[in-house]
Amino acid sequence: MLTGRKIHLCVCGGIAAYKAVETVRLLQKAGAQVQVAMTANAQAFVGPMTFQALTHAPVLTRTLDPGEEMAIGHIAFAQSCDVLLFAPCTANMLGKIAHGLGDDVVSTIALAAPVGRTPVLIAPAMNTAMWENPATQANLALVSARGYRVLLPDAGALACGAVGPGRLPEPEALVAAVMEALAPRPLTGRRVLITAGPTREPIDPARFLSNASTGKAGFAIAAAAVRAGAAVTLVHGPVTVPVPPGVEAVAVTTAREMHREVMARWAVADAIVMSAAVADYRPAEVFDHKVKKLDGPMTLTLVRNPDILAEVGAARTGAHPVLVGFAAETGHPVEYARDKLVRKRCDLIVANDVSAPGAGFGTDTNLVYLVTAEGAEPLPLQSKEAIGQRIVDFLAVRLADGR
Ligand code: C5P
Repeated sequence: MLTGRKIHLCVCGGIAAYKAVETVRLLQKAGAQVQVAMTANAQAFVGPMTFQALTHAPVLTRTLDPGEEMAIGHIAFAQSCDVLLFAPCTANMLGKIAHGLGDDVVSTIALAAPVGRTPVLIAPAMNTAMWENPATQANLALVSARGYRVLLPDAGALACGAVGPGRLPEPEALVAAVMEALAPRPLTGRRVLITAGPTREPIDPARFLSNASTGKAGFAIAAAAVRAGAAVTLVHGPVTVPVPPGVEAVAVTTAREMHREVMARWAVADAIVMSAAVADYRPAEVFDHKVKKLDGPMTLTLVRNPDILAEVGAARTGAHPVLVGFAAETGHPVEYARDKLVRKRCDLIVANDVSAPGAGFGTDTNLVYLVTAEGAEPLPLQSKEAIGQRIVDFLAVRLADGR
């Protein structure tokens, strides 16, 4: 239910604007207080009087309103609600939001929206060709990366006669998305520290030792933890995957840098997930010049890096913070994970066989076992996002248990 919740709806100019009317009714039925803003083009499809009559509130149609007859200005409209919903959002409005333009009331509301603090949902609706245009797709990627939540359009028959993606989801689906955005988040008020990606151990100014980790698994855990309401710090090695919106990222290069950053932060965390593929060894000596090749073989002496996970496991009191480690193995993942669970004093080891198809470094999927003191649970092959969500669910249960 949405009892007492303030939902502010921005309607843009497309045929799907008529669905915004029904959306208002359903939101109200669920107990929400709704206010509406409209672009000039939206008013060509649905009159502001329709929304005004339904919401018993003035409809915001202009940025610069002479006098004080408007109960709320565009800034207050953007900042005084529990959810801000753009439905339908045209390709043009999406472009304006992506590029920070504010030349009408709705784009100005988008600019003033406190994305990250208030859920801002964008429901694009347009002709399929416009949807598939690379400019639209690039704009979608931009707004998603900035923390706006995009509700993907349905596929089907469009008003223009085309068949394909571009339909505004039905009002029921829009209301469900609003409810989901307001659902209680189990990690609210919790701090989660995550390590991800590889480390690089320099040999000389041009060379280093590293591994094939891309950071995808750890970044997906960070995104899931943010969705669950946690304050997330992600200490990561050199990667190309983008930092999820709302995550505090600390970029490091070497294992010793990662060690330093984790040791400075672990004690204030409620849960720690160490998914980084930390180099176990580093060259004993780092040359200050590029090493020249010799005719014969070359010997590199390596020394051990600190084991960050083991150090935190040894230092924590009882089961606080909740501690999760990873075990990437080539064969016998569960056996090794059980050993690691005890040796590194963890609550959970996420174990995988990196040599299995669809699993391990660089893939979008993984095949893992969740190994705890209670047993080993095999998970089916699934996306790293879904596995990230499972790990966050585990953290939520452990933190709620207070074990
Ligand atoms: O012992 P192994 O390296 O297989 O353990 C893997 C787990 O330990 C991972 O969670 C990894 O992030 C962590 N680790 C660490 N510091 C190291 C080596 C591994 O935190 N130097």
